[in-house]
Amino acid sequence: MVLYSLKGRDLLCLTDYAPWEIEAIIDTAKSMKERFYSGERVIPVLRGRTIALVFEKHSTRTRVSFEVAAYQLGAQSLYLGWEQLQLARGEPIKDTARVLSRYVDAIVARVKEHWKLEELARYADIPVINGLSDLSHPVQALSDMLTILERKGRLKGVKLVFVGDGSDNVLHSLLVAGAKLGMHVVVATPRQLRPREDILRHAIEWARETGGSVEIVEDPFEAVRDADVVYTDVWVSMGQEAVAEEKRRILRPYQVNEKLMDAAGDKAIFMHCLPAVRGEEVTEEVIEGSRSVVWDQAENRLHTQKAILALLVR
Ligand code: CP
Ligand code: NVA
Repeated sequence: MVLYSLKGRDLLCLTDYAPWEIEAIIDTAKSMKERFYSGERVIPVLRGRTIALVFEKHSTRTRVSFEVAAYQLGAQSLYLGWEQLQLARGEPIKDTARVLSRYVDAIVARVKEHWKLEELARYADIPVINGLSDLSHPVQALSDMLTILERKGRLKGVKLVFVGDGSDNVLHSLLVAGAKLGMHVVVATPRQLRPREDILRHAIEWARETGGSVEIVEDPFEAVRDADVVYTDVWVSMGQEAVAEEKRRILRPYQVNEKLMDAAGDKAIFMHCLPAVRGEEVTEEVIEGSRSVVWDQAENRLHTQKAILALLVR
């Protein structure tokens, strides 16, 4: 069983995870969900453990799904807003990491800059899980893979088209997960907002191994043709307020609306990690329409968080 081999691991970026490890998390998430619906609401494999959530940014889904996941695994969660910790008064991350390691069994951290997660992980001797950084959002992408599997019955060969900000953190994780699982990932984005080069290269190299593909194009209508999934995220991510107007201007042609969904064809579902800004990256009609699976996506965060905690926490 793979269960043993992920124990103690950090989850900072999916670039650190092999395809079979990503598949193991998705399989476990699927089984967590099945067990939940067959009446096993509590699976106390982490009884007596404590999971700390260190959050430097707002969150609804990530915070609540991890806290409920911990509870349903028999563990306790501890929400620690960055501003309330001595961190905000200048206590070094490396000291915080070693102190928390003496009290809790894992840290889920949401940070403004990705290096803070790496610093936490370097000094903590418990698993550190990325609950979103400016670089990536691995726990979102893993959970989205479960949603795609449920809707499409497979992952390999699925055409996932991301429309919008090519430098988006959620997209970075979707690119890596998709490439490692043999999906065809197409990104429709303006020239100025391409994915980060190292992430893109990693995804392209893996897609070659798995029979998947990665393509970056400018025209959203060309990109979505025959899509299985049309995915978008906000144009202005948390922390990007200073460049908000410029991003809104260049991303205007990339709105996911009925016209774009029509161009995608009948089999396309609509996905969004949420929170969404209706009237910007997506219209009210599309997000509330019959092809939208955003509430399933949100629900699957819970089952996937349970899988991640159960597999990683010692
Ligand atoms: N999708 C997601 O991570 O949502 P929150 O910011 O609410 O956690
Ligand atoms: N790209 C968004 C995702 C929120 C879940 C942000 O970073 O704000």
